[in-house]
Amino acid sequence: MIKPDAVAKGYIGGILAQINEAGFKIVAMKYTQLSRLDAERFYAVHSERPFFGELVAFMTSGPIVAAVLEKDNAVQDFRTLIGSTNPAEAAEGTIRQRYASSIGENAVHGSDSDENAAIESAFHFSGREIF
Ligand code: RTP
Ligand code: MG
Repeated sequence: MIKPDAVAKGYIGGILAQINEAGFKIVAMKYTQLSRLDAERFYAVHSERPFFGELVAFMTSGPIVAAVLEKDNAVQDFRTLIGSTNPAEAAEGTIRQRYASSIGENAVHGSDSDENAAIESAFHFSGREIF
C-alpha cells in the first residue's frame, strides 16, 4: 500500500516509478480508502500494541493505493526497497527515506512474508482483479 500521507503529498507517481525501476511487476492495483473496520482487520496482528489506535486513525485518514507486486524474492526485496519502519533509520535512496516523515506516517506498507502477502492480496482484490 501507498499510505495516506504519501498519497496526500502527491508521491504516488514517484513511488510507483521507483517500484517499477526496481523490477517489480504490478499485477493488481486500486485507489481506495480503508474503513475503520478494514484497517482494524488489516492490522489485527498489532491490535495489542500501544500505537494501534493511532495506526488505524492514520490508515483511514485518506485514500491509499493498494497493489500486488510480483518479482523473484518479492517480499524481501520490497522490504529492502522501502527501508526501515522508522524513516530516520531508513537507508539512503529507499522509499521511506525519500518519502516518509515519521515512524507512524511512513509512506508505504510491505508484506512481511509470502503467507501474509497472499492474505493481504485477498483482502484488497478478488481473483479477477489480479493479472
Ligand atoms: P508495515 O507493516 O506498514 O509495512 O510496516 P512495518 O512492517 O515496517 O512495521 P510494523 O512493525 O509491521 O508496524 C506497522 C505500522 O505501524 C506503525 N507503527 N507505529 N508509533 C510507533 O511506534 C509505530 N510503530 C509502528 C507504522 O505505520 C508501521 O508501518
Ligand atoms: Mg509490518
